[in-house]
Amino acid sequence: MKKETLPFYTKSQLALRNGQDRKEIWCAYNNLIYDVSSSRLWQKGKHYEHWAGQDLTEELKNDAPHNENVFDKFEVVGKLKEN
Ligand code: HEM
Repeated sequence: MKKETLPFYTKSQLALRNGQDRKEIWCAYNNLIYDVSSSRLWQKGKHYEHWAGQDLTEELKNDAPHNENVFDKFEVVGKLKEN
């Protein structure tokens, strides 16, 4: 999907895609929302002690043993709307 035409989602819409309430597993990083549903490492929305369905920008910077290149193979499904 082209960046300019991506739909916006609110934080509450993103929160439903936490791998528990809906089948989709999404997480936001730097205002883009990634679909990580296909990842073996994000099953049921949990990745180590991190939960999908939210903005994980700070967590990735602070806690992750990897950088944002881990998102390369996942589809961007939308942009995070600031309320
Ligand atoms: C305690 C903190 C974390 C640990 C120990 C951890 C560990 C790992 C490991 C071992 C991998 C697979 C190897 C690699 O690609 O380097 C991975 C992949 C990944 N991580 Fe993390 N991670 C952490 C936090 C995060 C956070 C905060 C995010 C932000 C959204 C994140 C997103 C991802 C993604 C998208 C992948 C790729 C999954 C795949 O390829 O199927 N991780 N992580």
